[in-house]
Amino acid sequence: MSQSRRRMIVVLGVMTVFMLVLSACGTATAAPKTQVEVFSWWTTGGEAAGLQKLMDQFNAENPKYEVINAAVAGGAGSNAKAVLKTRMLGGDPPDSFQVHMGHELIDTWVTTDYMEPLDDVYSKYGLNDVFPQGVLDIVSYNGHPWSVPVNIHRANVLWFNKSVMEANGIDTATLSTFDGWQAAAEKLKAAGIAPLALGDNGPWAAVHLFEVVAAGTLGADKYKGLWDGTTDWAGADVTAALENFTMMLGYVNSDHAALSWDQANQLVIDGKAAMTIMGDWVDGDYVAKKFTGFGWASPPGTKGIYDALSDTFGLPKKAKQAEATKMFLGVLGSKQGQEAFNILKGSICARKDCDYSKFDAYLQSSAADWSKDAIVPSLAHGAAASEGWTTSITDVIAAFVTSQDVAAAQAGLVQACKDAGICK
Ligand code: GAL
Repeated sequence: MSQSRRRMIVVLGVMTVFMLVLSACGTATAAPKTQVEVFSWWTTGGEAAGLQKLMDQFNAENPKYEVINAAVAGGAGSNAKAVLKTRMLGGDPPDSFQVHMGHELIDTWVTTDYMEPLDDVYSKYGLNDVFPQGVLDIVSYNGHPWSVPVNIHRANVLWFNKSVMEANGIDTATLSTFDGWQAAAEKLKAAGIAPLALGDNGPWAAVHLFEVVAAGTLGADKYKGLWDGTTDWAGADVTAALENFTMMLGYVNSDHAALSWDQANQLVIDGKAAMTIMGDWVDGDYVAKKFTGFGWASPPGTKGIYDALSDTFGLPKKAKQAEATKMFLGVLGSKQGQEAFNILKGSICARKDCDYSKFDAYLQSSAADWSKDAIVPSLAHGAAASEGWTTSITDVIAAFVTSQDVAAAQAGLVQACKDAGICK
């Protein structure tokens, strides 16, 4: 071997050793972070932006960890809940997951023994003092809290495009009765605009509309009575609710079955539809899309009623990172976390002490209503009824949207209540 060749081999050897040392040092400085997997269905503009704030706060406060966003798209958890179920039953839960306050949390996951109690999280972060007693009661079972609520959403909001309403000479104060609403819808229809945008490619959106119409037709007390069997599902009020629902379905966009809730809302933004009746995550959608030409009103009959739901997160048994997850839950419960999240999400804080001067006008009005309106539980979003009962009602309503057979739907609803063991 020539001398120059030997020298070359030595140089290459030295370089290799040098590179190995360098890469070893690199590994030592950037130690991998421990991942905390958070599961939700927050993938649309306002949803994802709000979630990002919570993840950022946690990651900044806990540099050893990082949140992995395991969101599965589909409004109201229409796809995520099935994925979650498979994982939970298969013993591979995420570290934390989005779950609605009420029946969805307690019946589906707590009484079935899939969750850890959160007494230590509540005492460490002082959460027993910051949520209203009514909220604490709903996340508790057997004397323990089982999840941390990050917000309060309102289901009964009628959103409209202001310039479409103005151009068609509609006084939006008239929208809060069924007759006034129908008169406005007739005008819009005559002008070639879809009066009501609906996106029920996930059937929950039709259930959402039905529950708002039911609350508006029955009033707060009778609506609440549907869920404990004191209101007769076979009664004339429920017939009237189904008739009002039929009336409204007569004014929806023809492609409703192909759209999601946010695609339906896009029709409102684009001025192709005038209104949509949807929860206040629509406010978050407007913020994310920088659309300011919207107004809001009470859907017919629901003035003074607050149809409520709450997104909460818990700690499943078998979570891989229980301690870090508890710190993540602390962020969700914090004032800083709730303010940053809810401004973008279009919800108000579950905490009592948020500073609403930082929130938009809609959210300020919602916060004021939350403290004075009659609060009723949302059906489509896990608060009013068990998952099984909600699924039976969803089947009835999905069939009704096509058939609009009031008698058949009412019989189906009566049967669903019996099957749920609530009605005799
Ligand atoms: C609800 C949920 C909201 C919002 C909405 C649309 O069930 O509580 O946070 O995400 O679905 O996806």
